[in-house]
Amino acid sequence: MERLQGIRACVFDAYGTLFDVHAPMRKLSVEIGEKADEISKLWRQKQLEYSWLRSLTGVHADFWHVTGDALDYALAQYGVEEPGLKDEIMSLYLKLEAYPDVVAALEAVKSKGKLTAILSNGSPAMLDSAVRHAGLEKLFNMVLSVEDVGIYKPSRRVYRHAMQKLQIHDAPSVCFVSANTWDAQGAAQFGFQSVRVDRFGLKDDRIPGKPAALIKDLSELPGLV
Ligand code: LAC
Repeated sequence: MERLQGIRACVFDAYGTLFDVHAPMRKLSVEIGEKADEISKLWRQKQLEYSWLRSLTGVHADFWHVTGDALDYALAQYGVEEPGLKDEIMSLYLKLEAYPDVVAALEAVKSKGKLTAILSNGSPAMLDSAVRHAGLEKLFNMVLSVEDVGIYKPSRRVYRHAMQKLQIHDAPSVCFVSANTWDAQGAAQFGFQSVRVDRFGLKDDRIPGKPAALIKDLSELPGLV
């Protein structure tokens, strides 16, 4: 794969890219039942839809709120009503596992002298908890939340916020890394050099923006930057 030119910073999406969002329901699959995988997928889909709907309607609530609403929906849709289960799942969302390829890739990117940051829909408290739990604190120069902007990705305002914080004035100097198709493509449309991590075997979405590279996991990232 061809190396990306002129990269000064690697900016990472969090959920689905660094952290495994399906780990909570996997861990509680005995309590949740045989539909745990399906419920987890619906939860994730609704979480994203609610973030976009709130951005479009201008009625912002932070990602903790949106994640809880989406979980309520998914559990209700499948008729899962065990008392206390929602709180248990939500507390596991604060302690998500990092994918096994994350630490080595970040270390390698940093050793190449690149700045590293997270740019996520997550609220500052959620991100702080996930980063600490996975022991990633030292691997990022910055952890940036959409809460500073008040709208969700893929709003251009969010990607611009990362440039401002990183004090980078030309968008193509940023390598944006996401396993979420719409996020990798939104960032590419904005002007970042975008790398999609194909964790879920998905096709590109039929929306504007083409990632500069598609990699199977983060081990391929250091060679690109
Ligand atoms: C994030 C979600 C969208 O971390 O994955 O921003």
